[in-house]
Amino acid sequence: MPDYNTVLTLLQKHGQEHILAGYDNLSANERDQLLEDCARVDFGWLDARWAEMQASGGSAADAEIEVAPVVELPKTEAEKARYDEARAIGEEQLRAGRVAAFLVAGGQGTRLGFSGPKGCFPVGPISGRTLFKWHAEQILARSRRYGAPIPFYLMTSRDNDADTRRFFADNNYFGLPEGDVVFFQQEMVPCLDLNGKLMLATPSTLAMNPNGHGGALSGLHRSGAIDDMRRRGIEYISYFQVDNPLVTICDPVFIGLHVQAGSEMSSKVLEKNSPAERIGVVCSQNGRPAVVEYIDLDEATQKALGADGRLKFWAGSIAIHIINTTFVERVAGGAGLPWHQSRKKVAYFDGEKVVKPGSENAIKFETFVFDALPFAEKTLNMEVQREHEFAPVKNAEGVDSVATSRELLTKYFAEWLREAGITVSTPEAIEISPLYSLDAGELRTKFKPEGFTFERSIVLG
Ligand code: UTP
Repeated sequence: MPDYNTVLTLLQKHGQEHILAGYDNLSANERDQLLEDCARVDFGWLDARWAEMQASGGSAADAEIEVAPVVELPKTEAEKARYDEARAIGEEQLRAGRVAAFLVAGGQGTRLGFSGPKGCFPVGPISGRTLFKWHAEQILARSRRYGAPIPFYLMTSRDNDADTRRFFADNNYFGLPEGDVVFFQQEMVPCLDLNGKLMLATPSTLAMNPNGHGGALSGLHRSGAIDDMRRRGIEYISYFQVDNPLVTICDPVFIGLHVQAGSEMSSKVLEKNSPAERIGVVCSQNGRPAVVEYIDLDEATQKALGADGRLKFWAGSIAIHIINTTFVERVAGGAGLPWHQSRKKVAYFDGEKVVKPGSENAIKFETFVFDALPFAEKTLNMEVQREHEFAPVKNAEGVDSVATSRELLTKYFAEWLREAGITVSTPEAIEISPLYSLDAGELRTKFKPEGFTFERSIVLG
């Protein structure tokens, strides 16, 4: 247990002693908690972040970037044959049990404003199936299809770990073997106010945030999850985010292309719907593969056109990756990913009460998983069709919201039903459990009502 004087001296050395101003008013437990939180801060790291921020003026320099190669959607027979070949290779990896699913679910989900882990959000257009259930069922269905286990790793944070574990336990792991569901926590880092000072979240705890989805790589390593993967013979990690119910987890074509290319980290991309769409683009930066965020691109680069009249940087990354376990080990053992800072609204304890600020009052530091790309010897980018793979739930309303996600799900499933020969006229809602069908092909084999016309809502599975 750190003692008061040691912690005070440490704080004074870094100009942060204000944080103990209310110490005398705390209970014994609260005092211990606050001293522990302070003693855990890596002040060398924090000072470096603040200095970095001062030096850059708080914004990243415009990036000098080049176009990166992408395996585009197959159009010709030869391209379709290449896809089939890739699918066969991916399926072989799945049958051999060499692929794990990895969900990063440690985020704070502030834009959605849902109380509880974002994965507990009921996204199902009819049944209210939660995001966690959707993902877990897909993993279970795919593991059944290939007759091999697909261990499911979930990264949580201090703030949502207990709730996430409880949700899975209460739902019997959605049918997955309990031993194949592995949770680990990412690290938390303190945030600073706009003057570089630590803030309190409560009278006895520092305001902190999870260290970004880039914390996935160090987290896999530090938690022992990567050793667990090695013991199970896992070579490929299917990385995805919690908020996209349309993601194809452990996609055999994606795995196959990744293996064929000898890639260490591969990314799914789609055609941006406008130059200003708020997703990062895959590119080459200083000769290395990279994803550059939209805010780091100037308007001219965002709008630049290629020879074909398409946006030059059309390929937006949707945060779906295949990553080699050996690559995670190498990157996690290295110098670490760069830190990004952003201004956010962070609730804080002002000495009397918790204040929810109306405007940005704090700096959050985070790492991003795509910053691992430049470390890869070889990468691959695969184009996917937006309507088939991307329906993120980011906001409570408007763009990328619950409503748009449900609508996209319904549209996609309507396409499956039409492919199965069913007449579908503007449905209200459609929901198909991954356990019922993983794709249109599987649906065709199961659901063949002759001459059926479908009009309102339907849940299958
Ligand atoms: P977002 O960038 O959408 O962040 O995360 P968020 O925290 O979920 O939501 P906002 O920005 O506060 O509204 C994309 C994915 O990365 C995960 C999230 O859980 C989500 O699956 N993530 C993000 C982490 O696992 N840890 C983090 O520190 C940040």
